[in-house]
This record gives sequence, structure tokens and C-alpha cells, in this order.
Amino acid sequence: MDGPPKYLGVVTCAGSTCHGAGHPVGDARISQTEFLSWHRDDAHSKAYRVLIEDKGQRIARNLGIDNAASAPECLTCHATYVPADVRGKRFQLSDGVSCESCHGPASKWLGQHVTGEASREDNIKAGMYRTEEPVARATLCLSCHLGTQDKFANHRLMGAGHPRLSFELDTYTLLQPAHYRVDADYRERKHLAPHVQVWAIGQTSAAARTFDLFTSEKWASKGPLPEFAFFDCHACHHPMSEPRWAPRETTGLPPGVPRINDAHVLMLLYLTKAIEPALSEDLHKSLLALHKASTESREATMSAATALKEVVKKVQDKVRAHSFSDAETVTILDSLVKGGVAGDYRDFAAAEQAVMGVHALADSLTDAKHWSESQAGAIAAQIKVLYTVLADQNAYQPARFSGEMQNLAAALK
Ligand code: HEC
Ligand code: HEC
Ligand code: HEC
Ligand code: HEC
Repeated sequence: MDGPPKYLGVVTCAGSTCHGAGHPVGDARISQTEFLSWHRDDAHSKAYRVLIEDKGQRIARNLGIDNAASAPECLTCHATYVPADVRGKRFQLSDGVSCESCHGPASKWLGQHVTGEASREDNIKAGMYRTEEPVARATLCLSCHLGTQDKFANHRLMGAGHPRLSFELDTYTLLQPAHYRVDADYRERKHLAPHVQVWAIGQTSAAARTFDLFTSEKWASKGPLPEFAFFDCHACHHPMSEPRWAPRETTGLPPGVPRINDAHVLMLLYLTKAIEPALSEDLHKSLLALHKASTESREATMSAATALKEVVKKVQDKVRAHSFSDAETVTILDSLVKGGVAGDYRDFAAAEQAVMGVHALADSLTDAKHWSESQAGAIAAQIKVLYTVLADQNAYQPARFSGEMQNLAAALK
């Protein structure tokens, strides 16, 4: 078969002897119910449908778009939106974010994949995507959950009613209903990265991507005001009845200034503190410089963001080549929690990243049997409490969050 690989559509994968079984197949390597779990439980199978429903139609109307379900602005993240000439006969946009959105176009590997004679590497050569590998997975998920040079959910989309985007690779990997079983056979076929590594790689990819978009011609605002989607939403959107500003060492900003969303950079500050303190200091300096520049001029802001991006890329190189020991994981976790006690996560987006980070790091240490069962239980219970503090972003109380971080610090001792 010549030409570029084609996207064949979900029905191609969903045969009852392939991935469309109604019950897990006992002696098979995989459960074969992947289609069922995607179709029934996974938000991705509904990604197209929301464009037809009121929620999606309303957003589109507010933006002056006739029909969300045929608008490239929406389909680009809510479907396997590939050019017409690479769509197979049974391909349907209405499948939403489908198997091939994540696993790659199937035309060149389907044959060898069905007969079972091909290895993972053979399939990858034929266009299957390396979903188990954290760098590749981060690139894949962030393409829709954060954006690319081609697609981005800007503040106009938010203003029209689109939900705020938030993403952490390890947590979202767990949140996506698992359509695969991680058992001994899986581990033999695929390398399973520990949670700490998935988290660290996800953070570096998200921070690098954020500042790529921030400084891109296409997505930076051209008007006098910056693109608000790069800021902490609640720096502007919170009630005035309860003033809650307090100084934060990691911004150095006075009151009354909207803050650039630096949640991923904060995570990297704590991460690098444990594995390369000098890099952490560079990062801190560059972050302070960016916040300061944001009060000066657009030019100063862009050049500070470009400088910060360079440091983030150094962190990215470092992290990709690093394997985290349990001792380092403990140090990162302690340092993240210390930041919480000190009030560093006053911004909702940062608090959310901090809890997901703490969760990933704790899962790593629990897997490594670093704690007794009862201590692991107490830590998990306190992480649940932290999630409840974040349950309503419009009622977020930074002081309460710091208090619960203090309780987590106690549980970790
Ligand atoms: C950059 C990618 C991107 C673009 C562009 C985009 N979306 Fe989304 N959209 C998402 C993601 C990711 C979510 C899920 C957010 C979450 O829950 O974390 C989402 C969620 C939604 C939801 C809420 C779904 C639910 O189950 O409640 C609606 C409605 C929606 N989008 C409509 C639209 C419409 C209409 C457009 C076009 C005007 C659009 N989106 C463009 C990525 C995008
Ligand atoms: C949003 C992305 C996404 C979608 C959509 C998706 N998958 Fe997956 N899939 C993953 C990830 C991530 C993994 C875990 C990493 C891995 O094993 O490669 C995975 C793993 C798998 C595995 C590997 C099981 C194993 O034991 O090796 C199979 C089979 C699979 N998916 C089939 C499907 C099928 C069939 C569909 C559509 C019905 C689908 N996936 C839809 C992301 C996705
Ligand atoms: C092609 C775009 C696209 C890709 C790639 C993608 N997603 Fe999504 N994801 C979406 C959209 C759109 C939604 C919202 C669907 C809805 O609610 O209707 C979503 C929803 C989700 C949700 C549910 C969120 C919630 O609030 O309930 C999780 C979890 C998720 N994605 C995880 C992942 C992970 C992990 C990956 C990478 C393996 C990934 N996604 C890759 C577009 C994408
Ligand atoms: C720098 C300040 C600022 C930031 C940061 C900001 N917004 Fe806004 N937002 C505004 C303004 C101003 C409006 C217009 C208010 C109006 O139309 O009444 C608005 C409007 C909105 C609306 C529509 C409200 C309505 O009543 O219809 C939503 C939803 C929204 N923003 C969400 C967000 C999200 C999500 C983020 C973060 C990604 C964000 N905003 C970041 C200033 C901001």
C-alpha cells in the first residue's frame, strides 16, 4: 500500500474477536473489551456528541459559528480531524476522539496486527503510536488538552462558555477509564514508567508547550491586552467580597496585578530543587523576571518568556534523561508540600497541579512500598481531603488549602 497511512475508523477495531468483545477474554493478552470501555465509559467517545448538544451549540453560537459539529475550530480537538484524503471508507468524524486519534492511523499495521505476527516495534514502524512512552504520550494528550501551534482554546472560547482546560499526565492517564490491563504480560511487552517519571515528563512538556504558545505569533494576543488564557483565570474571576491577596515569594508581584499562570513552572521549581538545585535557582530567577516584565511591556514580557522557555527546555532535557530514586521522590514530595504550607499555591491552577503532583509522587512511593500500609492509607486519605478543597474552583480558599497541606506534611512524617 503506497501513500500516507489512512485512518480506518472505530468499526474496523471493534470486531467481536478483536477489541469489541462484550466480556474480558480470559486467556487473551488483552481484555478485548477496549471498544466497550471507550464507548461506554470514556469521555473521548462523546467528544463529538457534545458539539451537537446544547452545550456545544451554545458556545458556537456565541462565537458566530453556525454549527459546532462541522466547524474545524471545534472538530480539531473533538474528533479524529484528519484530511479527507487519509480517511478510509468506514471512517466517521462522529466517532469523536477515537482509537486512531491516540494509537495512530491503522491502514499500514492493521493486517500484520490482526494476524498477530507483528511485534510492537513492527507496528510502531508501520505508524502505530507509542502511547506507553511518557514523552510521546505527553505530546499526544497535550495536543488537545493544552494546544499546539494549530489549535488552542483561547479566552474568547472560554468567554463563549468553553470549560477551562487543565491537565496533568499521570492523573489524567488514571482518570481515563483504563481499557488496558497492566499485568505481568503487559510489563513484559512494554516498559511501564513509574508515576514520578510520568508526572515529571508531563510537567516539563506542559511548561515548554505553554511558553511555546505564549510566545507564538499565532496565539499571543495582538491587541493591547495579553491573551487571558495564559493567565490564572481566578486572578480576574473571583468575588470581591473576600479580599484574599497575600505576597507570594515566587511571583514577587504587588497586589492588583493579574498573574500569568505559572503552575507548571512552580512544579518544576520543586522538582529541580531535588535533582539540580542550580537549575532550580535559574528557573526561579527567570520566573520572577517574567512576572516583573508582565507589569512593564509586551516586548519585555515576550523576551522574558523566551528566556524562561530556554531554562524550561534545559529542565526538560535533564528530566528525560533522569530516573528518579525513591529518596529523590521523597525530597520532591516534601518540597512540594512545603510550598503548599508556605502559601505558594494561592492560585487555583497551581493548587490543582500541586494536588495532582502530590498524588502522582505518593503513588510512586506506595508502589515502591516506601510506607507502611497504614501510613499509605493516611496519606491517601489526606490527598482526598485536598481534592475536596478544590471541588469548586469558584469557592477556592487558599488559606484552607495551606492548612490541609500542613496536615499532609504531618501524615508524611
Ligand atoms: C485545543 C483543543 C480544543 C478546542 C479547539 C475545542 N475544545 Fe472543547 N474541549 C477540549 C477539551 C480537552 C475538553 C475537556 C476539558 C476537561 O474536562 O478537562 C473540552 C470540553 C468541551 C466541552 C464540555 C464537554 C462536557 O462533557 O461537558 C464542550 C461543550 C466543548 N468542549 C465544546 C467545544 C466547542 C463548541 C468548540 C469549538 C468552538 C471546542 N470545544 C473547541 C478541547 C478543545
Ligand atoms: C485518548 C487516547 C486513547 C484512545 C481514544 C484510545 N486509547 Fe487505547 N490506549 C491509550 C493509552 C494511553 C494506553 C496505555 C499505554 C499503552 O499500553 O500503549 C492504551 C492502551 C491500549 C491497548 C494496549 C493493551 C495492552 O495490553 O498492550 C489497546 C489494545 C488499546 N489501547 C486499544 C484501543 C482501542 C481499540 C481503542 C478504541 C476503541 C482505544 N484504544 C482508544 C490511549 C487511548
Ligand atoms: C484529539 C484530541 C484529544 C486527545 C489526543 C486526547 N484528548 Fe482527552 N479529551 C479530549 C476532549 C475533547 C475531551 C472532552 C470530551 C467530552 O467531555 O465530551 C477529553 C476528555 C478527557 C478526559 C475526561 C476529563 C473530564 O473532565 O472528565 C480525560 C481524563 C482525558 N481526556 C485524558 C486524556 C489522556 C490521558 C490523553 C492522552 C493519552 C488524551 N486525553 C488525549 C480530547 C483529546
Ligand atoms: C486579565 C483578566 C482575565 C483573566 C486572566 C481571565 N478572564 Fe475571563 N473574562 C475577563 C473579562 C474582562 C471578561 C468579560 C466579562 C464580561 O463580558 O462581562 C471575561 C469573561 C469570561 C467568561 C464569560 C463570563 C460571562 O459572564 O459570560 C468566562 C466563562 C471566562 N471569562 C472564563 C475565563 C477562564 C476559564 C479563564 C482562564 C483560562 C479566564 N476567564 C481568564 C477577564 C479575564
